[in-house]
Amino acid sequence: MRVSENDPALLDELLVCRLDSGRRNLEPCSIIIFGASGDLTARKLVPALYHLFLGRQMPMPFRIIGFARRAKTDEAWREELHEALTRFSRTRPIDEEVWRQFAANVHYCQGEFHELAAYTRLKHLLRGFGDPSLANNLLCYLATSPSQFGVVAERLSAAALIDKSGERGWQRLVIEKPFGADLASARQLNTELTRYAHETQLFRIDHYLGKETVQNLLMFRFSNSIFERLWNRDAIEHVQITVSEQHGVGSRGGYYEESGALRDMVQNHLLQVLALMAMEAPVSLEAEAIRDEKVKLLKAIRVWAPEQVLQQVVRGQYTAGTVAGKPRPAYRTEEKVAPESSVETYVALRVLIDNWRWSGVPFYLRTGKSLPAAASEVRVQFRPTPHVLFAAQCGPRLDANALTLRLQPDEGITLRFNGKVPGTSLQLRPVRMHFSYDAEFGAYTPEAYERLLLEAMSGDATLFIRRDEVEAAWTFVDAIREGWKGRTLENASFYEAGTWGPAAADALLARYGHTWRNPQAPATP
Ligand SMILES: NC(=O)c1ccc[n+]([C@@H]2O[C@H](COP(=O)([O-])OP(=O)(O)OC[C@H]3O[C@@H](n4cnc5c(N)ncnc54)[C@H](OP(=O)(O)O)[C@@H]3O)[C@@H](O)[C@H]2O)c1
Repeated sequence: MRVSENDPALLDELLVCRLDSGRRNLEPCSIIIFGASGDLTARKLVPALYHLFLGRQMPMPFRIIGFARRAKTDEAWREELHEALTRFSRTRPIDEEVWRQFAANVHYCQGEFHELAAYTRLKHLLRGFGDPSLANNLLCYLATSPSQFGVVAERLSAAALIDKSGERGWQRLVIEKPFGADLASARQLNTELTRYAHETQLFRIDHYLGKETVQNLLMFRFSNSIFERLWNRDAIEHVQITVSEQHGVGSRGGYYEESGALRDMVQNHLLQVLALMAMEAPVSLEAEAIRDEKVKLLKAIRVWAPEQVLQQVVRGQYTAGTVAGKPRPAYRTEEKVAPESSVETYVALRVLIDNWRWSGVPFYLRTGKSLPAAASEVRVQFRPTPHVLFAAQCGPRLDANALTLRLQPDEGITLRFNGKVPGTSLQLRPVRMHFSYDAEFGAYTPEAYERLLLEAMSGDATLFIRRDEVEAAWTFVDAIREGWKGRTLENASFYEAGTWGPAAADALLARYGHTWRNPQAPATP
């Protein structure tokens, strides 16, 4: 389905509504990347900054300073970044002239995170740029392990590079998940960071929120009256949120053994998508208004008691199998994974939201590794019609309407309803109405980090996670971990790599008369 056609008369009627002025409040600034030679910098941060520059979206002037342990010259770091860009850029080939102009703003500062003298060197470097905005307006990106967030913030403050007064330009700290490993450590981290920076200076990144289609969840809900009035317990029977990954743990076994799917995916990405899908309308599009509503929703999630966890939450772990035609070893035999590991690579759970809108509507969330497809989607299953009219032809239950919001790949929306099969007999069959972003708007999809870096530079925190959101999400997740405590995985928890998860996940939905709908390739429009 195309919502607009190349018909000039129809185009005249289209109202293209800009929600922002198109111009952000972008002041000249320096971006300091702590962890300059890391994987995140090479894969995501530098390609994102280059593309912002390419699209003339960077503030002018700007500087990028890499901070890491190993000694190297500016030139050597630029060469490393150029090579990384060649590998990870979303556009090919790299525009060498644009790169040359971009790279002239890129510098390197060698130092240990705990070494105060290194921050003094950094300060001299910033002052040497000769523009007070470049020395004072600082976006400090902590692309480091979370255990180093505190020391970097403390040293930045000790060197008077950041301060809470707001009197000398602005300074912001961008931090990467995981934001703690449980509620207690998240609180401790938040307390530590807010010693040196205000909560308003902390930008906690969940890159899922930078995805166009995740942002579109809000726009879709609140700019279309036909769906929003159905968005409640009266019309919706249940909701499924799936974030499936095809890849296994690969070389990240060590990290994953500490984390598992619940902390790695559910605590942040899945609960964030759930919050956007289910929250009330904010009073405005201001960051705090949206985040207030997300927190209200997260706090309305029923926290399972330890004895309920085994009924409401399923965990799984992949065994050897085949994914995308290639053999995949069992999780327990992956690098840096304990041979008896009970860490979950899959979680499926039933979530209830105790508020007026959603009372009694189950939200089924699932995520896993080594599944058959890499896909994220929200599927809204509407209540069935009374089946009196079609009971004879269609059996006890006619397939109910469903709306699928595909977050990736092939971002778009599909509405499923029933249609009559042509012919003399009365037969009904589900058909699909399909909207695809690519078909409608072209293939331009900026990387999530581009959007997020731009918002952080302009000081808009809408797409970043506030302290109380993190803490509400951990409250829910900690209760599940409490229910799992001391329990090893049961036989029913294992699933073959390349399948849609353990049988126990199917049984969870079957108990409530529901079945998982696996992400599928959309029908050709
Ligand atoms: N990789 C991803 O795609 C990804 C995605 C989402 C989140 N994250 C998160 O982002 C963070 C960084 O991950 P990463 O994969 O980029 O890490 P990484 O590859 O291990 O890189 C670590 C970086 O930190 C520097 N470093 C480490 N200890 C240091 C010290 N004591 N003093 C100064 N520099 C030090 C290293 O410098 P040297 O090279 O000079 O030693 C290197 O530049 C982690 O919190 C991770 O969970 C990563």
